[in-house]
Amino acid sequence: MNTGSPTPAVYGESERPPRGDYARGGQVQADYTCPQDYASYTDADHDTYRRLYERQAAQLPGLACDAFIAALPSLGVKDRIPRFEDINARLRQATGWEIVAVPGLIPELPFFQLLANRRFPVTDWIRRPEEFDYIVEPDVFHDLFGHVPMLFDPTFADYVQRYGEGGIKAHHLGAGEKLARLYWYTVEFGLIRQPQGLRAYGAGILSSVGELQHAVRSPQPHRLPLDLVRTMRSRYKIDSYQSTYFVIDSFDQLFDMTAPDFAPLYERLKSEPDIEAGALLPGERSLGLG
Ligand code: PHE
Ligand code: CO
Repeated sequence: MNTGSPTPAVYGESERPPRGDYARGGQVQADYTCPQDYASYTDADHDTYRRLYERQAAQLPGLACDAFIAALPSLGVKDRIPRFEDINARLRQATGWEIVAVPGLIPELPFFQLLANRRFPVTDWIRRPEEFDYIVEPDVFHDLFGHVPMLFDPTFADYVQRYGEGGIKAHHLGAGEKLARLYWYTVEFGLIRQPQGLRAYGAGILSSVGELQHAVRSPQPHRLPLDLVRTMRSRYKIDSYQSTYFVIDSFDQLFDMTAPDFAPLYERLKSEPDIEAGALLPGERSLGLG
């Protein structure tokens, strides 16, 4: 299926058409999933993955949350790009999730539908060597290393499924973009307060060389307690470190606070203006480090 240029409505507000080959000789399904094109990985691709993994794994202690560190070995091989099916054997067993290959960013509704069915879309291509330190779009390293370990945590895994169900509903209520911001500030850039201090659970932080230190330790960014309406009003930048992060105390808290019907929130949001990325509202104070 040649899907043209789907709008990347979930990962951010970008004018660029998404990278990735959506034609694939008819291999892309109507739900945007496709076979992982394992044969097309070159030695250089595997080497890029190996070097990214090694560098990132080394800086996790003290910065990544316990659930992430505990599940990272479940990704399997670290010296080359893993086969998705190998990871799935373990992931299905742990939480009933599976990962599916996609050619790149996909539109909002099919994205929500995959999540609602406990299927996590993973981009199968890897960045070029010159993008080693920073890439704006998700590639296989971001999607696997950043997202998949967290899907081994039962509560977090349930949250992401329910987020997908909520996304379908939000889409039909015209609130998909607002709810996408909650994904951004939790699944992608969330921080959690553990007994030993602040840690990252968001994939955009965990897969980034520089942002891990910035998010967890730098005095620069604002850190606020997670609030649904506040996050859904908050714009974000997709091409720089975040200037505001939202902090939770536990995944149970995240799961419980998102359980109520969001329809009244979407109504309220219609009359509340957006907040610029990095701005603080009157009376807001950043939480301390630690
Ligand atoms: N409870 C939300 C609703 O009714 C759905 C949702 C669940 C949203 C989990 C985000 C996360 O719309
Ligand atoms: Co991501």
